[in-house]
Amino acid sequence: MRFDIISTFPEFFAALDLSLVGKAQKAGVVDIRVHNLRDWAEGKHLAVDDTPTGGGAGMVMRPDVWGRALDTVLEEGAVLAIPTPSGKPLTQRDLEALVQVPQIVVACGRYEGIDARVAEHYGAEGIRVFEYSLGDYVLNGGEVAAVALVEGVSRLVDGMVGNPESLVEESHSVEGLLEYPVYTQPREWRGIETPAVLFSGDHARIRRWRRDRALARTADRRPDMINALVEGGKILERADVEVLTSRGVDVRTGRWDYSFSVAEESDLSEVAALAARTFPLACPPTATETEIREHIDTHLTENAFRELTRGGASITTVRSGPELVVVAYALCEPNAPDDIASLSPGACYVSKIYTDPEFHGSGVSGALMEFALADAVSRWGSTAVLLGTNQSNRRAIRFYRRHGFKKCGRRTFEVGKRIHRDFVYVRDLTVDPPR
Ligand code: ADE
Repeated sequence: MRFDIISTFPEFFAALDLSLVGKAQKAGVVDIRVHNLRDWAEGKHLAVDDTPTGGGAGMVMRPDVWGRALDTVLEEGAVLAIPTPSGKPLTQRDLEALVQVPQIVVACGRYEGIDARVAEHYGAEGIRVFEYSLGDYVLNGGEVAAVALVEGVSRLVDGMVGNPESLVEESHSVEGLLEYPVYTQPREWRGIETPAVLFSGDHARIRRWRRDRALARTADRRPDMINALVEGGKILERADVEVLTSRGVDVRTGRWDYSFSVAEESDLSEVAALAARTFPLACPPTATETEIREHIDTHLTENAFRELTRGGASITTVRSGPELVVVAYALCEPNAPDDIASLSPGACYVSKIYTDPEFHGSGVSGALMEFALADAVSRWGSTAVLLGTNQSNRRAIRFYRRHGFKKCGRRTFEVGKRIHRDFVYVRDLTVDPPR
């Protein structure tokens, strides 16, 4: 792979003699030649620039000087790369395409840039001209961007990076996600522990944890990348959907629609309305309408929720859409009821978690569960959580299992005069869910 860099500051490129690129040069894997543009300048002052035609600030680089330089340096099959803040943002895909060509000539402009006829002329001559930008900010010249391109392409050349896997897993790889956070020794540093899952030796869990972190990080820092993944149908796993939902993305519509919060007094009437809508759907088929109505009228009113929060419970909600309607809620209590508390002494309790049926399968319930449990841990310091669910509710049972709950007992539960049988589940809150 051959690079020719033309610049008025050739000394700048001493940096390319260092590190891996320097080694690759010595090993003959890449051939980097740096040229001084002034070698092609003429006249007493060896001027390479002049005032902008039509007026304006600064100076523009002369096409005749660049023409002489490029005619000398360009070879068959070359790409002419011109760094400029008005170029196309440089991406990993561009680097992957550039590593295929035999020669890249980088023309470093200074001042206000290079006369536009240079790119036009070489383009018309059949040379591939690639005007690229490092980002939406302005540097003093193209030198930094030239180093970025040469280093970025060089590390893709065969024989460069020692471990080929590090090329596959990194940020901006084909996965379309930023890389997950990385850790090394010591295990604890300035009071910050390395996440325990990384010591588990359980490769599936580690992979899942890393993917969760990569998705969350990408959603927070690069929503544009998440939009591209969602549009391209690349969010395939259920756990992916939950992570993105927790960051606000509705992967079904591609809209950033969800917000998670701890309910305040003013939210409770909406929570009660949702509770009344969703409770009948979770009842076993044997429950009569009167029994269900009675339960709603006594336990699922705004007042009943107010009493619960005054008694120390925490209600968390998910709102969605332009109207920010409450579409799911969870009710957690610091202690489990007496009949099951002994199954995990000190555990907190998920008393209810209900999602509008329109949002079943959307990832909302799972994201809310994790949000509610994180709230419980920070509020009460809980290390475990208990919950009960009707023995016939297969969908709920599958959901709790997926979220790291294990069956630990049974209880009976009364709706009206009828006795319903629940399984009781527990989850250790000191480890991440094994998704
Ligand atoms: N020259 C000056 N600013 C630049 C940028 N942001 N990217 C590429 N080349 C530049």
